[in-house]
Amino acid sequence: MVRPKQSIQSHRKDEHVFLAEKFHQDDRQNDFDGLRFIHQSLPELAIADVDISTQFAGTTWQSPFYINGITGGSQQTKKLNAQLAQVAQIAGLPMATGSQSVAIKDPTLVDTFSVIREFNPAGFILANIGAGNDLSVAQKAVAMTQANALEIHVNTAQEVVMPEGDREFYWLDQIGEIVANLDVPVIVKEVGFGMSAETIAKLQSVGVTNIDVSGKGGTNFVTIENERRRDKAYDYLSDWGQSTVESLFESQAFQNELTILASGGIRNPLDIVKALRLGASAVGISGQILHMLIKTGPTETAEQLLAWQAQIQSIMAMLGARNLTALQSAPMILSPNLRHYLNERHLSL
Ligand code: FNR
Repeated sequence: MVRPKQSIQSHRKDEHVFLAEKFHQDDRQNDFDGLRFIHQSLPELAIADVDISTQFAGTTWQSPFYINGITGGSQQTKKLNAQLAQVAQIAGLPMATGSQSVAIKDPTLVDTFSVIREFNPAGFILANIGAGNDLSVAQKAVAMTQANALEIHVNTAQEVVMPEGDREFYWLDQIGEIVANLDVPVIVKEVGFGMSAETIAKLQSVGVTNIDVSGKGGTNFVTIENERRRDKAYDYLSDWGQSTVESLFESQAFQNELTILASGGIRNPLDIVKALRLGASAVGISGQILHMLIKTGPTETAEQLLAWQAQIQSIMAMLGARNLTALQSAPMILSPNLRHYLNERHLSL
């Protein structure tokens, strides 16, 4: 059988998965290593008494972590989305799709995203589009997956390095219009370059209330897009951006008014607990879950992620933190580099 030729966009989706996995390193160091908890020998708490649930936009999530935006848009990534949806369903995790803009331009690709709802009829699903799309695209993306919320990604660094990327970044007004008119909650997220206090303030000024700072430390879209370029011209930009820990520092002053989510470089349950300690309401994971899925399949990945939930509960018990609010005052120390970042940016915790 002769297969119809894939579009450039579908091919790009396959390349992103391939390259994310190619560059994935299980033991990669990142800024989460610069934060240490102070061990407490007498927490006066039972593991079973620790509540790891969190609130997002009026909904209770039993798990404080979720599968963040990854994929869809090609036949190969449809299979991955079906498997990720199974993982989400078994492990009780919210799950975001990858960017759905391709399927709005090419309706033959709709099922590569809607398959997520098929495999997880009752789960919390987040639709995903890029900034620069208007309200009608946002509405179609939500309808396509019968989503409970929408992620809008802001990704200038990726677009700049992507050979066929966008070159105009007038995004803020349209984001505000979507937030004001869409009938599900909206999260504005980065894609692994982190956010600054200035960015968060701009988002707040147009009515955004949920932000995923998605920082540096894990999947690196400068490296991925640079690999897709013939000239490999942007290698020198591979350290661009703020880490997830630094981005959470940047968000401190906003945490009473906004829901701050964190992602980028999460490797294990301890990283999740650290991000929650720094004020994240919930923690997104992409590269690590994609890696587990490719290496072990959906059943083992789901089991592993259920074990992560139990491990988060155990770590919180050791820290004497009965719930996520209590965790936010667990004693910790920071590396000189992280202290330096706080000083230079005139931030305090
Ligand atoms: C992503 N990410 C992403 N984000 C988004 O908002 N829309 C998208 O379409 C994609 N596509 C995508 C593909 C692949 C293969 C990966 C691994 C990731 C970015 C993702 O949601 C997250 O922000 C970053 O990957 C940082 O988190 P990790 O991977 O370090 O946990």
